[in-house]
Amino acid sequence: MSIATETGSFAAPAVRQTGILIGDEWRPAVSGKTFKTINPATEEVICEVAEGDKEDVDLAVHAARSAFESGSWSKMDARDRGRLMMKLADLMEENLDELAALETLDNGKPIGDARAADLPLAIDCIRYYAGWADKIHGDTIPVRGDYFCYTRREPIGVCGQIIPWNFPILMTAWKWGPALSMGNTVVMKPAEQTPLTCLRLGELALEAGFPPGVINIVPGFGPTAGAAIVKHGLVDKIAFTGSGETAQRIMVDAATTLKRLTFELGGKSPNIVFADADLDAAIAGAEFGLFFNQGQCCCAGSRLFVEDSVHDEFVERVVSRASQRVLGNPFDSETTQGPQVDKDQFDKIMHYIDSGNKEGAECVTGGQRVGNRGFFIEPTVFTNVNDDMAIAKEEIFGPVMSILKFSDMNEAISRANNTTFGLAAAVWTSDVKKAHQIAASVRAGTVWVNCYDVFDAAAPFGGFKMSGMGRELGQAGLQNYTELKTVTMALGD
Ligand code: NAI
Ligand code: MG
Repeated sequence: MSIATETGSFAAPAVRQTGILIGDEWRPAVSGKTFKTINPATEEVICEVAEGDKEDVDLAVHAARSAFESGSWSKMDARDRGRLMMKLADLMEENLDELAALETLDNGKPIGDARAADLPLAIDCIRYYAGWADKIHGDTIPVRGDYFCYTRREPIGVCGQIIPWNFPILMTAWKWGPALSMGNTVVMKPAEQTPLTCLRLGELALEAGFPPGVINIVPGFGPTAGAAIVKHGLVDKIAFTGSGETAQRIMVDAATTLKRLTFELGGKSPNIVFADADLDAAIAGAEFGLFFNQGQCCCAGSRLFVEDSVHDEFVERVVSRASQRVLGNPFDSETTQGPQVDKDQFDKIMHYIDSGNKEGAECVTGGQRVGNRGFFIEPTVFTNVNDDMAIAKEEIFGPVMSILKFSDMNEAISRANNTTFGLAAAVWTSDVKKAHQIAASVRAGTVWVNCYDVFDAAAPFGGFKMSGMGRELGQAGLQNYTELKTVTMALGD
C-alpha cells in the first residue's frame, strides 16, 4: 500500500443546497434542527443540513400526493415525461465535475471512481428509464362473452424512497428512474452520512422543469424521517436499499398500511475461482470485486473460493495487488482507495478484523488503520478462513477479503449456497460447461462469469433470500412502479 500525496488534482466544490425540498421550495426543518455532514477523509464538518422529521415528511408527502392527484406528472404525455428526464440527465452531465467532487467530499470515494463509474452509470440510468416512459402498455384479453377486456399499467402513486450512503447519486438514479418514468411522485430520504449530492440533484430536477411536488427530498435520520415516510398513510410504496435489519423494521412499520415494498439488501457474495481460469483476469477481478468503493458494496465478492491447486499462487499474487492499492486523499487522481464512510463503519470493520484474528484466520496483509485522521483502513486479506467464522458469514462492508479453499465443483456450489444471502456471485473458469453449471446452481440474483461488478441500467439486479425483494434496473425494475388495472366493458345489450 502506498499513500497518495496531497497534491490533489481536483478541488472540493462549494455546497449549494442544504435544505428540505418540498414542492418547489427549499425549506429549513419545521423544528429548525440541523445535523452535520462529515468529510470522512479529514473528519471535518462539511456543513449543516436541515434535519427533517415527521412534520417535514408530512409536508413532503402532501406535496407529492397533490402533485400526483393533479395529474401534472402522472397524466403528462408519457413522451414529454421522458423528455424531462432526458433534460435532467443532460444537466447531470453538464455538472458532472461538480457532482463527482461533491460525492467525493461527502462519501470519501476516490474522485476517479466518482467520475468514471458513479456519474456515468447514474446518468445512463436516468436516460434508460426516460426511454421507457412511453413504452409501457397493457394488453387486450379475449375473455368469454360479449365483453371487451383490456389492462392498463398505472403509476402506484407516492413512492417513499430510502437510500444508503455507499453510492448516493447512483442510488438516487436507480430509485428516481423507474418511479418517474412510470408517472409516480417521490419522497426521497438520502442517508444521513451523504445527503449533499441528492439535494443537488433535486435542484437540477427543478432546473430541468419538473413540476413542483414530483420530487421531494427530506434529509434526516432513519428512525425519525425514514420511519415517518414508511408509516405515512398517503405513501403507497417504499423502495429501500440498506441493511437487512432496517428492512425488517420497515416491513413491520409498513404492515398497518400494507405498502408495496421492494428491498435491495446486503450480501456475502461467493466469488469462485477455478484452476483453469485466466488467473491474471481472476486476480484483477477478485481485487476489484472486493476492494472497489472501499469494500462498501452490497455485492462485494467477500467469500473468495479458490481451487486448491492454484490457491497458494493466487494468494501471493492477490496480496501483492492489494498491497499496491493507493490510499489517501480521495481528491487525488492517483488514489484508488479512500476512507470508510464514517466512524460506525470504521469500527464495525475493525471489529471484524479483530474477530478474524481471534477465530484463527491468518491476516496476510493489512489489518490496521492508516494514519490518525480520516477513516482509512489498510487493504486486508485473510487466508485459512473457514465457513463458520464470522468473517465468512457476515457482511463486513469494508476492504477485508476472506479467501477459502475448495477442491471440486459440487463442494464449491454447496458452500457458496450455504448462506442466508443471495445477491451476487461470480465464477472464473475457461470451461463453458462449468460456467453454466455454476450460473444455474448458485442461488443469487446476479452471476458474473469471468467478470465482476458489471452493471448496466438494462440488466435487472436484486437478491434471492435475505438479500432483497424485487428487482431494480431493466424492464423488471418497472414492475415495482406500476399497478395493473383490468377494464371490462360490456359490448352486448
Ligand atoms: P441502514 O439500513 O440503517 O441505513 C440505510 C438507510 O436507511 C439510511 O438512509 C437510513 O437513514 C435509513 N434508515 C435507518 N433506519 C430506518 C428506519 N427505522 N426506517 C426507515 N429508514 C431507516 O444501514 P447503515 O446503518 O448505514 O449500515 C449498516 C450496515 O448495513 C452496513 O455496515 C452494511 O453492512 C449494510 N448496508 C448495506 C447497503 C447495501 O447497499 N445493501 C448499503 C448500506 C449499508
Ligand atoms: Mg443503521
